[in-house]
Order: sequence, then C-alpha cells, then structure tokens
Amino acid sequence: MTSRIRLRPTLASDIPFVLSLEQDEQNLPFITPWERTQHEASIRFPDMRHFIIEGGAGLEAVGFLILIGCRNPHQSIELKRMVVASKGQGLGRAALRVAKRVAFDDLGAHRFWLDVKARNVRAKALYDSEGFVMEGTLREAVRLQQVASSLPAGRGSQAGVDFDSLHVLSMLRTEFDARRSGGLEGSF
Ligand SMILES: CC(C)(COP(=O)(O)OP(=O)(O)OC[C@H]1O[C@@H](n2cnc3c(N)ncnc32)[C@H](O)[C@@H]1OP(=O)(O)O)[C@@H](O)C(=O)NCCC(=O)NCCS
Repeated sequence: MTSRIRLRPTLASDIPFVLSLEQDEQNLPFITPWERTQHEASIRFPDMRHFIIEGGAGLEAVGFLILIGCRNPHQSIELKRMVVASKGQGLGRAALRVAKRVAFDDLGAHRFWLDVKARNVRAKALYDSEGFVMEGTLREAVRLQQVASSLPAGRGSQAGVDFDSLHVLSMLRTEFDARRSGGLEGSF
C-alpha cells in the first residue's frame, strides 16, 4: 500500500525547506545539491517543474521533487531529483507514482528517465520495483562529495577512489500504460 501524498508547485517560501533537505547528511551522499539560485530559477523556468511533496495526516511538506525537460521536443522528461524527509514509509513510492502521472498524463512524456548513483541501493530498488528499465551505467561519472571536500587543494582525481557510477533508467509511455492497465500503478 502506498502513502497518501500530493504534489503542489514549490513556492519561493519553500526554498529553505528544500535546501535543508538537500544539506541533510542522510541525503547528501545521494544527490548533488543545487545553489539557492538554481532552485529559485527552476521554480520560474517553464522547462522545469519543481514540486513540494505533501503527506501525512495534515498534508504537511514531507519532501520535494524536480522534473526537467518538460518542454523538450523529444518528450523525454527527467526526474531530476526526489527527496523525502522520512525514509522507508512509502512516501517515495507514492510520490514517484504521482510524478509518473504528471510526466505522462499532464506533460505528454514519451519517455520518463532518471539517473541514480550506484551506491543508492534504496532508490535503485524503488525504481526497479516501479517498473523502470535499466538502460546502462555511466562509469565513475560523479565525484563523491564528502571525499572531494576532504582532498588537499590541487590534488587531481583518482579513478576508483573518489567517484561513483550512475545508472540510467527509464520508462516508456507504452510501459506505463501497460502497468496502469495491469493495476500496477495503484488506484487514483
Ligand atoms: C530514495 C527515496 C526518495 C525513497 O523514498 P522512501 O520513502 O524512503 O522509499 P519507500 O518507503 O517508498 O520505499 C520504496 C522501496 O525502496 C526500497 N527500500 C526502502 N528502504 C530500503 C533500504 N534501506 N534498502 C534497500 N531498499 C530499500 C524498498 O524496495 C521499498 O519498497 P517496499 O517498502 O515496498 O519494500 C528516499 O529514501 C530519499 O529521499 N533518499 C535520499 C535522497 C535520494 O536518494 N533521492 C533519490 C536520488 S536518485
């Protein structure tokens, strides 16, 4: 069973909440945080959709997610980031299901895709179980933040030590339609 959640557009007044989630040490290893100005711009930029995830009894803010490429001519929309404050309670799965509906139903996506760090076992398990198909791996494509910040100034990179790989996963509209017909997207 999935949690009850809803998405609403992020407001400028929500940015401190978003930044605090990004800077939380539970989340930092799995994301590449943005500057405040990037979030501010993404609220206004038509190619992006920045959402607050609301959940719980009072539908309070429990996380955020960002879609990008919403106006791209290839109808290929990216789930750029999704973070929830309380893990393992079904909020991520519920938010992902709503994000799929926004991407395919509201924004006309043909392909909905994302990348996830190889070390992010929890998120990868979620995407796998939600029907995303593995496309490939960008090997050692991202520098690990906590390691990078502890490096002496001027030190060069060392492959295999400071980097993580990115798995690219996607879902096509036909796959989403089949899941929905098969009752795998829940009731709504
Ligand atoms: C990734 C994230 C959004 C998932 O949301 P969540 O609410 O914690 O996940 P859910 O409770 O909906 O769990 C979904 C599935 O993830 C998997 N999962 C959950 N916790 C897990 C763990 N500790 N280890 C492995 N898999 C786990 C399970 O398959 C679970 O489904 P199940 O409970 O039905 O078995 C959330 O954990 C988060 O904010 N993480 C930090 C930021 C991040 O990694 N964002 C994604 C970047 S690509």
